Amino acid sequence: MLLLGVNIDHCATVRQARYRQAPATVGGAVEPDPVTLAVLAERAGADGITIHLREDRRHIQERDVWRTRETIATRLNLEMACTPWMIDFALKLKPDSVCLVPESREEITTEGGLDVVGQRERVRACVEAMSAAGIVTSLFIDPNDAAIEASAAVKAPWVELHTGAYANAYYGARRAAEFQRLRLGAVRAHDLGLTVNAGHGINYVNIAEVRTLPHLHELNIGHSLISRALFTGIEEAVREMKARMNP
Ligand code: PXP
Repeated sequence: MLLLGVNIDHCATVRQARYRQAPATVGGAVEPDPVTLAVLAERAGADGITIHLREDRRHIQERDVWRTRETIATRLNLEMACTPWMIDFALKLKPDSVCLVPESREEITTEGGLDVVGQRERVRACVEAMSAAGIVTSLFIDPNDAAIEASAAVKAPWVELHTGAYANAYYGARRAAEFQRLRLGAVRAHDLGLTVNAGHGINYVNIAEVRTLPHLHELNIGHSLISRALFTGIEEAVREMKARMNP
């Protein structure tokens, strides 16, 4: 059974589009509330909730993270940059897992994943700190051998393979090649003992192929769920995605 982590960031994106200047991010007429969305997503079968507290606070605010932690009944996955401030925040919050994602140029590879090779010691220190606190670390990486091997070397238990290049190539000539890279990456990661997740750009169409990747444990999906929810509500959007993930 392939698990679904629902990324609620873009619910906050919509809220911030209207209420960026408001002193509070919740209450009264301030809508839509990402925490309410998370609860409804869980009710429809979400296996976990994912949020990204970005440095620029463009969508999720600190208060959203704490409210989500207190409210949800499934697992909380915090996407974060590998910075001292975020590590300290995560150790206080105690999410079930963190997913290290690039935030600044230096942490990013050419394709968009975390530069584990170039940031090896920084990432290793973060993995160790999280694991000492009982928090699972996932690394959001491109599906290439160097990144996968570095992830295993720093003892990250999970990786999240970046499906963005594949999703962007979906209607173009490179789709088969990008899918093959993901397939080989999933096999290599699994062979090294890593739990294999995937995310970015997964939608109701490409899920038919994405779900056939070997060794997949969980998918993190945001944009397409929130977009579908505008028309059907989040519960129907989650149910439909889960049905396509596990037909
Ligand atoms: N996984 C990670 C690590 C991400 O940064 C994102 C984007 O926030 C996603 C998954 C979800 O991507 P999308 O919104 O395109 O589904």
